[in-house]
Amino acid sequence: MADKRHSYSYPTRIEYGPGAMKDLTLIVKVSGLKKGLIVTDEGIVKVGLADQLKGYFNEAGIETVIFSDVKSNPTEENVMDGTKIYKEEKCDFIVGLGGGSPLDTGKTVKVMATHDGPLAKYDDTKGGDKYIEDNMPPFYAIATTAGTGSEVGRSSVITINSIKTIIYSPYMMPDIAVLDPTITLSLPAKLTAATGVDAFVHNLEAYIMEVFHPMADGIAKEAMEMCVKSLNTAITNGNDVIARGNMLMASAMGATAFQKGLGLNHAIAHALGALYDIHHGLANAVVLTEVMRYNVSRETTKEKYASLGSIFGVENDAEKVIEAVEQWVELLGMNVKLSALGITEDKLADIEAYAIEDPCYPLNPKVAEKGDVIKILKNIL
Ligand SMILES: [Fe+2]
Repeated sequence: MADKRHSYSYPTRIEYGPGAMKDLTLIVKVSGLKKGLIVTDEGIVKVGLADQLKGYFNEAGIETVIFSDVKSNPTEENVMDGTKIYKEEKCDFIVGLGGGSPLDTGKTVKVMATHDGPLAKYDDTKGGDKYIEDNMPPFYAIATTAGTGSEVGRSSVITINSIKTIIYSPYMMPDIAVLDPTITLSLPAKLTAATGVDAFVHNLEAYIMEVFHPMADGIAKEAMEMCVKSLNTAITNGNDVIARGNMLMASAMGATAFQKGLGLNHAIAHALGALYDIHHGLANAVVLTEVMRYNVSRETTKEKYASLGSIFGVENDAEKVIEAVEQWVELLGMNVKLSALGITEDKLADIEAYAIEDPCYPLNPKVAEKGDVIKILKNIL
């Protein structure tokens, strides 16, 4: 049951359930580690979660230092500041506590704790992964939102000289991902909705990706069903531990599945986020059904969409599934038009130009041509 504690070892060790955050401190104690750096952000400090975790470590007899200077788009400076404290304080493990930003920063501090700089040396698009060795301190990731799934991811996105840079290595996978639904109960409804749709889209885009990975496909399909069953409950009754737990798990499953890749939905969402500061989850929700309508002309994608009928209680028919997704997004209060976000027709070419450069753009199963993104966006104005 989703309100009980469980342990899994795929894709990494997962400690799931109410109380899992406290239990992590006991696991760390058994492993003989002495002093940890908690990487988090100011928002998490404000709600008292960082102190709560520090208190649990204290009870277990383990010293910790809190580093919370992490921006929403974490920078090289954030990483290097965290690394400096890690070294000065003679820490021997790192805990990331937060959404994607603190977790990505913590993962990268782990790299820089044992590797020489500059950080740009490890830029994945320039083959930097080959310099990252398996000699890094343990890193534990505690998710406080259900969306990015960074707690089970092997990469981070860090801004270096204003450029979003991917740092990747299989050795960056957190040693333990902690999914404790009780620490997500106070997430506001709007954020729950936006991050929840992001988790759904991770699974959907991974599912339609034409890469042979039946394990990922199975995970993605199950996680989409969990989102459809639980997201509205998590929004309308934030204290529902089972719904919160299902969304945390669906988020982690999404990041597990999207090792296959992400597509056009994310390419456009990244553009909307970068150019107009629109929340990543909301941006994904806004374009979701129109991207599906665009993709459905590809036969393999159409078949995949159709196979989702039972999740929505409709026939296995792609058009019916798209209609059902549209109704679901409306139910969640996420059917927002671009004009309501201040985006007018004259901006669409810029959005497309940015999306075309996004690494997710060429991965979309249906090959998008110049002008296609503008056509998609025109339908959402
Ligand atoms: Fe996403």
